[in-house]
Amino acid sequence: MATIIKNKRRIGILSGGGDCPGINAVIRAVARKAILEGGVEIIGIEDGYEGLINNEYHRLENRDLSGILTLGGTILGTSKKANPYRYAIKKDGKLTFKDMSKTALKNIRGLDLSCLVCIGGDGTLGIAYKLFKDGIPVIGVPKTIDNDIMGTDITFGFDSAVWIATEGIDRLHTTAQSHHRVMLVEVMGHNAGWLALHSGIAGGGDIILIPEIPYNINSIIEKVKERHRRGKKFSIVVVAEGAKPKGGNVVIQRIVKESSDPIRLGGLAFVLGDQIEKISGIETRAVVMGHLQRGGSPTPFDRVLATQLGTKAVDMINARKFGYMVGVRKNSFVEISLKDVAKGARKVPLDHPLIRAAKDLDTCFGDKC
Ligand code: F6P
Repeated sequence: MATIIKNKRRIGILSGGGDCPGINAVIRAVARKAILEGGVEIIGIEDGYEGLINNEYHRLENRDLSGILTLGGTILGTSKKANPYRYAIKKDGKLTFKDMSKTALKNIRGLDLSCLVCIGGDGTLGIAYKLFKDGIPVIGVPKTIDNDIMGTDITFGFDSAVWIATEGIDRLHTTAQSHHRVMLVEVMGHNAGWLALHSGIAGGGDIILIPEIPYNINSIIEKVKERHRRGKKFSIVVVAEGAKPKGGNVVIQRIVKESSDPIRLGGLAFVLGDQIEKISGIETRAVVMGHLQRGGSPTPFDRVLATQLGTKAVDMINARKFGYMVGVRKNSFVEISLKDVAKGARKVPLDHPLIRAAKDLDTCFGDKC
């Protein structure tokens, strides 16, 4: 905790949910622009909403912003569990939930923030909306590798994750080819297929499985065998962690009980890989890209996007456009009500041009190939 300077406009900033490349670029843009405008103190809330509940924060000075544009993760820390409206408390091995919003609201008011900038995905922005309804001037900045936030066509972090996943697919291509194997690559994305779709197309996947199109194992086997018949003795299958068979369920890796969104997906590639090998008789291997996709330095695209989102957020603070998120639609920056953002995740529409383009190139989506 830091002593705060009196008679200065104060902007609070926090990052919530899973980390991703570009968060620091947003923090830098918000803080640097606001500091340059003058008369502003920037308060970095530590570990997302956890810091609001426990009153943990520190002042961000110009020197804290140097060198962070290219840095992955978040200098403020984050939490995927802390929700002031449903805060998990573990005592004697027993888990209970408590409404800690009054404490969080008291702490925010104690800081006398003229605005709280919340950088996060749908969970973080949903909580931001609740804080707004409770009288806090908030502004949201959309962050996630999943690219699934309602109201914006693109989130920062996505391009970096696509790049990492594509790099992984490229590397598996050569080994699949050399060993005449089927290689499955599982990518993240939660219940949306954006990451699998983009990296699958960029990496030349033969089969791409996304949550929006439930798959039929027979279609996958048929595709793999048909490639064999044509002399292509390997296949690359890009699997979204949230994909599921027709009439079946997702594969759950773990349940995080303390979290408001407790299901962690993962492991479908292994399940599917075993099935493909058993049924087709072709040697198969599976790789789960996992958290590698959230690490490292943001791509230039994400650095530019994050910087613009950060500066737009400051414009919105100056215009007192509270209760809104800055987003991108049709290549323009827009302001989207957090109420609309909270309506749910943005899935890949079945008539999306990228699905059509991939199908035109004979890519199989596990429905009918
Ligand atoms: O939302 C980002 C994300 O990486 C998802 O793609 C993934 O399902 C989830 O977070 C993983 O969560 P955790 O970091 O808790 O394992």
